Amino acid sequence: MIRLARVIALGGLMLAGPYPVFAGDLAEGQKIARMCRTCHGIDGYAQIPIAPHIGGEPQEYLEAQLMAYKTGTRVHEMMSVVTAGLSDQQISNVAAWYAAHTATASLPEGVSAEDAPATCAGCHGADGISLLLDAPNLAGEVNIYIDTQLKAYRIGKRSHVIMSEIASELTDEDIRELANWYANVSLEISPPE
Ligand code: HEC
Ligand code: HEC
Repeated sequence: MIRLARVIALGGLMLAGPYPVFAGDLAEGQKIARMCRTCHGIDGYAQIPIAPHIGGEPQEYLEAQLMAYKTGTRVHEMMSVVTAGLSDQQISNVAAWYAAHTATASLPEGVSAEDAPATCAGCHGADGISLLLDAPNLAGEVNIYIDTQLKAYRIGKRSHVIMSEIASELTDEDIRELANWYANVSLEISPPE
């Protein structure tokens, strides 16, 4: 609900995702998450450095990314294989499972939200908890993951109307600095109640 309130506060900024959001079944989603746990954890807290944290991200975002891997608009050697074996309904279910978690971020001691990168904070939050349903959390992701994704937008390997434009203006140094801001946030993920 907090996220919803923030989205409303942002007014017209929210963008509709390209895919329909089906109602997800949590119990079914939890079963599918066993396939994901070695990399993303059962709660969505990543177990390997190249995989992102996905627990507590918006269902819309998770579902859109899984569909993007499945349909080939986002490509990754592991995720393209994983999603090829899932139906649209299974994707909705597993997205619902991870989205039902709560992600809580805290800035490092002595660091103020006012120093957050202003170009990013309006959508990804000062602490990396997304304010939009179609944008991911960045809190506590490994800096190399953030770095890789920004470079993927910059070279067109990954494409998005907003992020491709933003990334095209960033130097390698900018990217490293932004990645470090969000990587330094600590993230906790708690299970659904
Ligand atoms: C073998 C390890 C592995 C397994 C198993 C795996 N993933 Fe991933 N996942 C990754 C990696 C690595 C990435 C980053 C890919 C990239 O750079 O595009 C990723 C990315 C994602 C993303 C994109 C997140 C974002 O912030 O953009 C989602 C969503 C996701 N995985 C969900 C799942 C789900 C759901 C499952 C189980 C059905 C699963 N993954 C299984 C390794 C894995
Ligand atoms: C107007 C809103 C907006 C702004 C401003 C914005 N982003 Fe994004 N960002 C998004 C959306 C929406 C996505 C999901 C794009 C997609 O579907 O590929 C995204 C995706 C990302 C990703 C991919 C993360 C993942 O889990 O795969 C990274 C990294 C990122 N943004 C970093 C940044 C940084 C750093 C800035 C500031 C320089 C920034 N963004 C500014 C909306 C925004």
